[in-house]
Amino acid sequence: MTHHDDPTASGSSVPTRAARECALLAERLADPALLEQAVEIQLGPEDDGSTDTCLAVPVGGRRVAGQVTVMGWGQATQVMLALTGRPGFPDVRDFGFGAGIDEPRAIRWGLHIQSAEHRECAQMWGYHAAGVEAYVAERESEAVPVTPLPDLPTVPTVARFYDALLGGHDNYAEDRRIFTGFAWEEAEALATTAVINRLHPPAIVRYCADRGITQYLDLGCGFPVTDATPHPLTYRYPTLHDLVAKEVVEDPRVVYVDHDIRIYRTAGIEIEAGPQPEWVLGDIRYMGQLLSSSRMRRLLDWDRPIAVLLHDVLPWIPDDGEATVSLAVLREQLPPGSVLSITHAADFDENPMSRFIKPLHAAGLAFTPRGARAIGGLFGNWPLESPGLVPPHRWRPEHPHAELPFHAAGALAGVAVKPETGRG
Ligand SMILES: C[S@@+](CC[C@H](N)C(=O)[O-])C[C@H]1O[C@@H](n2cnc3c(N)ncnc32)[C@H](O)[C@@H]1O
Repeated sequence: MTHHDDPTASGSSVPTRAARECALLAERLADPALLEQAVEIQLGPEDDGSTDTCLAVPVGGRRVAGQVTVMGWGQATQVMLALTGRPGFPDVRDFGFGAGIDEPRAIRWGLHIQSAEHRECAQMWGYHAAGVEAYVAERESEAVPVTPLPDLPTVPTVARFYDALLGGHDNYAEDRRIFTGFAWEEAEALATTAVINRLHPPAIVRYCADRGITQYLDLGCGFPVTDATPHPLTYRYPTLHDLVAKEVVEDPRVVYVDHDIRIYRTAGIEIEAGPQPEWVLGDIRYMGQLLSSSRMRRLLDWDRPIAVLLHDVLPWIPDDGEATVSLAVLREQLPPGSVLSITHAADFDENPMSRFIKPLHAAGLAFTPRGARAIGGLFGNWPLESPGLVPPHRWRPEHPHAELPFHAAGALAGVAVKPETGRG
């Protein structure tokens, strides 16, 4: 890395803007080696004398090959000048919109101006050879596509932050700092949403097992939290494989998928009972490649129904298009009779989850609650099981926190079954 203030270095207590941008951009990297080409750029001084830094990373593998966010044209020009001639970045020579990835020869940078809190915010992006090559390689590869989120103590991840909310021990001070920065009531409100969500699977597994489903796919599984710090709301959180072991006698299968590398260090040591689950390091934004990879084809029988859990994962995929396309591919590929269980952060008058967007984004976590209509749309034309879209603790009366107010979950949950005929 070429910058002097390494955001990955331990010891710095407050994440720099560069570290936050690094975390956000790392999620989009197809080739982690691209991070080595990151350039930290000094911005300012502004009229008020303030200075800042931003991180420019050549991001491969998706439509965006490089991206940097700056405030105003002055900073944009500074970035342009800083990037010119850098390896991994194209010549900075164009202020128009970037060219399409399908025209890799027309490489140029673009600027997109947005208004952000009364100031102009410019997003620059471009395509370069490494990005295009990574994109093409990804499309053609049979491997499970993923850029693992690194296990860096200074850069929070959703999985570690959520683990901290649940009272787990797979997190760092930097992950806990996010909610210790909140007022006590706010931190409690957020922790309550996490606890309610984590206690939803028992009802789902019972429902699916009653339908004779033996295969379970947990997308964005997070950490198994089996030794949570005691808290008034905390129950022991059963793991999915323990739940399945209790309900499914014949040939139970459980496959966990997540893109956070630390989860794979934990995997294996928490397993108490059969069935032995499989862990796949994968990114659900690349759903088509993930499901068609030889590993996934082997781990599950795609001629028999599969229960898919997507619990509190999609709120961390901010791009509506990516979430919609991933879900469409998933519904298309699942065999008839499969079950889709989704929980998703949503606003309630008494508990608007949108109030957490700003602090979580500031910590580098792209939290995106959605409305009931958008969440319902994720099920396509699959009919929702009764009672429809409701908070997770109201989906079945057996939820241990069913007595909590409707809005306490800060989320909506739904379950749908793939019809025997028709497409997703
Ligand atoms: C809030 S946690 C929810 C964990 C678990 N599903 C639950 O309900 O308790 C969100 C999880 O989704 C994972 N995740 C987010 N985006 C992902 C992606 N694009 N591909 C795979 N996993 C993802 C995170 O790493 C994290 O473990």
